Amino acid sequence: MPTSALTSASGRNRPLPATGNHSIRKARLAILLSGRGSNMVALVNAVQHGVLQELGEVVVVFSNKPDAPGLETAAALGCPTASLSSQGRKRAEFDADVVEVLHRYQPDYVVLAGYMRILSPTFIRAFAGRILNIHPADTHQHQGLHAYEWAFENRLPETKITVHLVDEGLDTGPILAQHAVDLRGADTLAEVERRGLAVEHRVYAETLAELIKKERHAEPAEASRVASPD
Ligand code: GAR
Repeated sequence: MPTSALTSASGRNRPLPATGNHSIRKARLAILLSGRGSNMVALVNAVQHGVLQELGEVVVVFSNKPDAPGLETAAALGCPTASLSSQGRKRAEFDADVVEVLHRYQPDYVVLAGYMRILSPTFIRAFAGRILNIHPADTHQHQGLHAYEWAFENRLPETKITVHLVDEGLDTGPILAQHAVDLRGADTLAEVERRGLAVEHRVYAETLAELIKKERHAEPAEASRVASPD
């Protein structure tokens, strides 16, 4: 595979860090994006000085677009980055290469943050039950792209920001959290997005923090692991 496309500042697997005096290590987060990465920034902020501070570390920010603005932002925030261009690639083959890249970082969670790809079974099965996504609508009502446009064009009084686990369907995975956003009086698409993103940025980190805490409690006999590796 084209390892030369890797842009990581630190592609090695780091030793498991400990939190304070405890041996419980932080969950290793791989954040995937395709664009500007405002959700990635919110997650990194939460890791650096917010709700994820004692719970998670960002081991890589990955993009299928080597020129995604979010990658540069991630590097400026001190995160390792990596990319592989998906342009012209067959879905399953590309995803197999991405899996190979991500495995080097041994993530506990793969956190999709505006990663505009439909994931193949190859990818889903490699990280089954450990892939999270944030969607700007109730996934029962709207799937795929352009959810804010959909809410705006239909003059919806609210949208429901949804954080869910990713399965092999399109936005069909189990819902972890939903938060309503009041859209009344939002008379431009930009205002709809502004209100929605403000909620996304808070809710994604909070939901991830709750999940990590829950899984820690669920595995008392193996407290040093947040989730099992492959
Ligand atoms: C966010 O609104 C996210 O919810 C959405 O893409 C945007 C990415 O923005 N994701 C989806 O629509 C997934 N179906 P960001 O790059 O600034 O985080």
